[in-house]
Amino acid sequence: MSLVEIARDGEVCILTLRREEKLNALSGEVERDLGLALDDSAVRSSACVVLTGAGRAFSAGADITEFRERTAEAVIEYYRSTGNVYERVAALPQPTIAAIHGYCLGGGLELALATDFRIADETAVFGFPEVSLGIVPSSGGTHRLVRLVGPGRAKHLMLTGARLDAPAALAGGLVNEVAADARARGLELARDLAALPALAVSLTKQAIDLMPETSREAGILIERLAYGMLAQSDDARRLADEWSKG
Ligand code: COA
Repeated sequence: MSLVEIARDGEVCILTLRREEKLNALSGEVERDLGLALDDSAVRSSACVVLTGAGRAFSAGADITEFRERTAEAVIEYYRSTGNVYERVAALPQPTIAAIHGYCLGGGLELALATDFRIADETAVFGFPEVSLGIVPSSGGTHRLVRLVGPGRAKHLMLTGARLDAPAALAGGLVNEVAADARARGLELARDLAALPALAVSLTKQAIDLMPETSREAGILIERLAYGMLAQSDDARRLADEWSKG
C-alpha cells in the first residue's frame, strides 16, 4: 500500500502522508511514493494540490534510522532518485498548500517550504533539528528559508534548532496563516485558488518563484512575456468582455 494517499475534491488534489506510526518520517519509501503520486493523473489534472499528514504530525522529518547507511556515493544517488522529490513538489505548475498540524520538523519543514502556502493550526511545532544531529537541511530548505524569512531568521532557526509554535511561525513569516483546522482551511484556500483562471495562476506562481534568482532586466522580461501569453488567453478575453458588459 502506498504511503501517500491521493484524493480528489473537485479540481483540488489532496496528498496525505500515511506513515502515521512514525509521525510521517520521510523515509526513502515515503519519498518514492510521493514522487509516484506527483506523476498520478489525479495530481497532474488538478488545479491545486494540498499536502498534509495523517495522524498527529505533518512530518517529523527525514527518517533518522536511514542516516547511518549513507556513504558519499549513496548520497549522490539519493539526490538523483527519491531525494529529488522536494524539488519536484516546488516545480509543480499549479499552486500547492501545506496544511500543517503537529510536528513539522527538518525534512518535513523543508517539504512544507517547497509548497506555495503554509497553513498551520495551533498544534503545529516547527524546527530544524539537523545541526543538532551533525548535519544540515539539504532538501532545498536552506535555499528556500533564506528567501522566505531572510538570513537573520534563517540562521536563528537552523543554527539554534529553536522550536516555533504556530503564532511564532506566523510572526516570523514561516507560515501564511494559523487556522482552527489547518486541513479544512487549506482545502478552502485550494478551492478558491482552483476557481481562478488556471493559466494566470500558474504563470504568476512561476514568475514569482524565478524573481529572486533573476536580474531585474530578466525579471521584467519574464513578466512581459507572461503577460503576452495571458493577454491572448480565452480566460483573459472572456473576463475583459464580462467586465465591460458590467
Ligand atoms: N525518523 C524516524 N523515526 C521517527 C522520526 C524520524 N525523524 N520521528 C519520529 N519517529 C518515530 C519514533 O522513533 C517512534 O517510533 P516507535 O514508536 O517505533 O518508537 C514514533 O515515530 C513516534 O515518535 P515518538 O518519539 O515516540 O513521539 P514523541 O511525541 O514522543 O516525540 C518527536 C516526537 C518529533 C519530538 C520525536 O519523535 C523526535 O524528536 N523525532 C525526531 C525529529 C528529528 O530530529 N527530525 C529531523 C531529522 S533531520
